[in-house]
Amino acid sequence: MITTANSSVFQKEIQQGIPDNLPDKKAYPSGANRAPKRKDILSAEEKKLAIMNALRYLPKKWHPILAKEFLDELKAYGRIYMHRFKPDYDIYARPISAYPSKSKKAAAIMLMIQNNLDPAVAQHPEELITYGGNGAVFQNWAQYLLTMKYLATMTDEQTLHMYSGHPMGLFPSSNDAPRVIVTNGMMVPNYSSPDDLEKFNALGVTQYGQMTAGSYMYIGPQGIVHGTTITLMNAFRKILTKDDTIKGKVFLTSGLGGMSGAQPKAGDITGCITVCAEVNEKAAIKRHEQGWANILIHDMNTLVQRVQKAQTDKEVLSIAFHGNIVDVWEKFYEENIFVHVGSDQTSLHNPWSGGYYPAGLSFEESNSMISNEPDLFKQKVQESLRRQAKAINKHTERGTYFFDYGNAFLLEASRAGADVMGEKEGQFKYPTYVQDILGPMCFDYGFGPFRWVCTSGNPEDLDKSDDIALHVLSEIQKTAPPEIQLQMNDNIIWINNAKKNKLVVGSQARILYADAEGRAKIASAFNSAILAGEISAPIVLGRDHHDVSGTDSPYRETSNIHDGSQFTADMSIHNVIGDSFRGATWVSIHNGGGVGWGEVSNGGFGLVLDGSEQAEKQLQSLLFYDVNNGIARRSWARNDEALFAVKREMQRSPNLRVTLPNLVDDDLLQGLDV
Ligand SMILES: NC(=O)c1ccc[n+]([C@@H]2O[C@H](COP(=O)([O-])OP(=O)(O)OC[C@H]3O[C@@H](n4cnc5c(N)ncnc54)[C@H](O)[C@@H]3O)[C@@H](O)[C@H]2O)c1
Repeated sequence: MITTANSSVFQKEIQQGIPDNLPDKKAYPSGANRAPKRKDILSAEEKKLAIMNALRYLPKKWHPILAKEFLDELKAYGRIYMHRFKPDYDIYARPISAYPSKSKKAAAIMLMIQNNLDPAVAQHPEELITYGGNGAVFQNWAQYLLTMKYLATMTDEQTLHMYSGHPMGLFPSSNDAPRVIVTNGMMVPNYSSPDDLEKFNALGVTQYGQMTAGSYMYIGPQGIVHGTTITLMNAFRKILTKDDTIKGKVFLTSGLGGMSGAQPKAGDITGCITVCAEVNEKAAIKRHEQGWANILIHDMNTLVQRVQKAQTDKEVLSIAFHGNIVDVWEKFYEENIFVHVGSDQTSLHNPWSGGYYPAGLSFEESNSMISNEPDLFKQKVQESLRRQAKAINKHTERGTYFFDYGNAFLLEASRAGADVMGEKEGQFKYPTYVQDILGPMCFDYGFGPFRWVCTSGNPEDLDKSDDIALHVLSEIQKTAPPEIQLQMNDNIIWINNAKKNKLVVGSQARILYADAEGRAKIASAFNSAILAGEISAPIVLGRDHHDVSGTDSPYRETSNIHDGSQFTADMSIHNVIGDSFRGATWVSIHNGGGVGWGEVSNGGFGLVLDGSEQAEKQLQSLLFYDVNNGIARRSWARNDEALFAVKREMQRSPNLRVTLPNLVDDDLLQGLDV
């Protein structure tokens, strides 16, 4: 509960930044979901450098005590988190009025940062990790304290520059400029191997921001439930005849972590039987207690019997299974349990540091092997991936539809020598969900994970915003072309049921797939409602980086681009620059996120709507570019759906002139003697 007394303590502490007196050393909280110990990668000299780097945040008089303490942290965790400096106040998205500020926009950013670190939302809050095992908001608590102080004191004529969690400082800018510029994990390209990340992160000079972790835009598993629901519904549409029902059909997958935890909920909304294996008992219990999975099962035989019963009774059921996914694939094959749809959401973007737990080892055994015998652990992961792929192959021979859900499963399995390569050179046996589903059905038309947060913290504002969005989409649908009617329909059903599905964890946030027209019209209606006082406080707009234009990732977001440019990163870089001068309140660009360090370039934005004319201008300009940049690029790659979308947009918007490809006849190429 917020009382006047504790709210003024909170405000004072935020404004203070690094405290005047050295805070007492804290015991590590019992029951916290601790990040795995990171690899011991630094040489003795580099360890000293890491300690010197950490100490530069703090007054010299504390150095003798802290040097030893930071060395202990480095030895115990592989990183210096500065646990002593974690503030005592509770961290969660407070109403915007609770933040001390000279800029309302900066106050909204503080709210978003605290949401990303809220223990109800974040995966490893003590280590400032929001999701994905290594998706960091900051590298250490000193960075958090300094950043919050800068945000509390900055004006709308300044911009805060964030280097991988480190606040470089406030620089004079203008009211139209972004308030914050974020970069995470940006490296000179040759220094992007997984061990480079381990080393430079341990030195305290870079961090893995994932996608929405390091850009303050994570809204809990809700953000992913919608995308997963769309993916799953369409996966079933691909394999079932029109008259068949999803009820009683099995979806087998893994992971009940930050994002993967959305799968059972999406399965329930889709109407199938979801079996989601999770090796970390704490994560399995958490998702079950939060109501994201209907039942929790610990024993394999019980699982088999319960799934068979659900198949017979055509139940809609989601099961959190505490165990290894490899064992489930193998057991279901033996028991003849037919899996209609299969996938995987272990954190294979981070295979050697606890993203993937190999079969045959307990969770605890793996955790100790990660730090004590990293080479052996790597072997175990690769063996396990080969076993998993073998079991999946047996199921797909029986008719299972398997897709890679953007966690680098096929990539890492192929690197481990598993049988996952297809007939065409360089192509996998199985599609990614973007190649088969999200790319052609959503991204190429401009549909992507738009989202907003009501900064009052008042659920009534969220209800009001849901109503507005539903009304706007229903109006657009009346005249939408047949090519996008299915998408409009799915999104209208989603927003209509969003409240009923109880998706809010943390801030009062909503996710809704929409195209450029939908996003701008919804945002504009919000801005008017704020001006009219129908919504009581500003709304933050944003999106997942996993979207039409924000991400270059050859095995995921851009895996349905086939002109060779899927290995370039121009689109995401243009996007962040383009958004930054079209009115974004903050922008971010990251190396790594989703599929791994060095494997992806991705960015996003936040835009605070306060009911002003400036916000109206900004939303129109930014949202238009933020979506159409990616459609243009996808159309240049000759994607049919994007060609349709960009031509339609050029008809509506005379100032948009996009270079269109001349298509080449296949026969002509066939005839060439190459
Ligand atoms: N396609 C998408 O839209 C999308 C979205 C979000 C995340 N992802 C990817 O999915 C992966 C998971 O993301 P997350 O945020 O949930 O990560 P996470 O680390 O929070 O969760 C992964 C979970 O998998 C569990 N796990 C690991 N190995 C296992 C095994 N062999 N058997 C059973 N459980 C195992 C871990 O204990 C962990 O709880 C990441 O690689 C992420 O990048 C894809």
